[in-house]
Amino acid sequence: MLFKFIILFVTVNLCVELGNAARTKQTARRANTTAQGHHRTVNFDEDEKRDPIDCGAIYRSQERKGLDITSGVYKIYPEDSVPFKVFCDMETDGGGWTVIQRRGEFKHQEDFYQGWNDYKKGFGDGRGEFWLGNDKIYTLTNQRKYDLRFDLEDYEGAKRFALYSGFRIGDESTDYRMTYDNFVTGDAGDSLIGVSSADNFKTNVNGMKFTTKDRDNDGSSEWNCAQHYKGGWWYNKCHAANPNGERKNNNSGEGIDWFTWHGLTYSLKKMEMKIRRSKFNL
Ligand SMILES: *[C@@H]1O[C@H](CO)[C@@H](O)[C@H](O)[C@H]1NC(C)=O
Ligand SMILES: *[C@@H]1O[C@H](CO)[C@@H](O)[C@H](O)[C@H]1NC(C)=O
Repeated sequence: MLFKFIILFVTVNLCVELGNAARTKQTARRANTTAQGHHRTVNFDEDEKRDPIDCGAIYRSQERKGLDITSGVYKIYPEDSVPFKVFCDMETDGGGWTVIQRRGEFKHQEDFYQGWNDYKKGFGDGRGEFWLGNDKIYTLTNQRKYDLRFDLEDYEGAKRFALYSGFRIGDESTDYRMTYDNFVTGDAGDSLIGVSSADNFKTNVNGMKFTTKDRDNDGSSEWNCAQHYKGGWWYNKCHAANPNGERKNNNSGEGIDWFTWHGLTYSLKKMEMKIRRSKFNL
């Protein structure tokens, strides 16, 4: 019975969404959709009357208006939040990605060995190296269901990625506890689950709280993993992926590591973390 109901619900929803898509196109042609102020008052379809809540919404809106869609800095209006600026990746795998972290070679190299409040508020330069900030990541990942994508590059110029579904983090009262549903795909392999559940080396970070050098919430009772591995992360005991580790540090586990590609003694040249609504391509 419940099963039937779910099928019916999905079917009805699908029809409604297809209908919306058709109507949206007509509406866009008729209406002047220039954003005026925070909320538009004209009664367009749901997606039209809101300011963009993320880079995916900007992508779709530009697409409807027939405008260029280029990667860069945009202002977004997440639900229940003041607006803020983000970098949008409008190219990778169909575009529409809100970038939440970037490592790479820039004139100014950011220090990622930062404290709790820095990771809370975010730091760095949106066009260079940065961490968007845990409060903002919380806001973004709790308005809809999101995918999380890692894009990696090594010093030989090879590129790999990893994609996860259902990524979200809790607010500060949960110590920004992070969860996701599944590793979906990616030739970089799954380094968020990592390699081992042996008692002395727990690398699965699904469900872990955030740890910084001054706030120890990790799965190790012996040390602070952030201090040990030079970053801030959802460390367990401790990790098989260290996106916020130290640049060019090839000591085991201390660099920008992704175990299932280059192991723990190769700090990667570039890394980006980005999120996009799970149903973006449907
Ligand atoms: C839409 O409205 C804005 C502001 O009133 C105006 O500047 C713009 O020319 C209008 N665009 C079209 C296509 O009517
Ligand atoms: C780290 O190791 C990689 C692979 O061997 C190498 O390309 C890179 O230059 C090393 N980095 C440093 C700082 O030694």
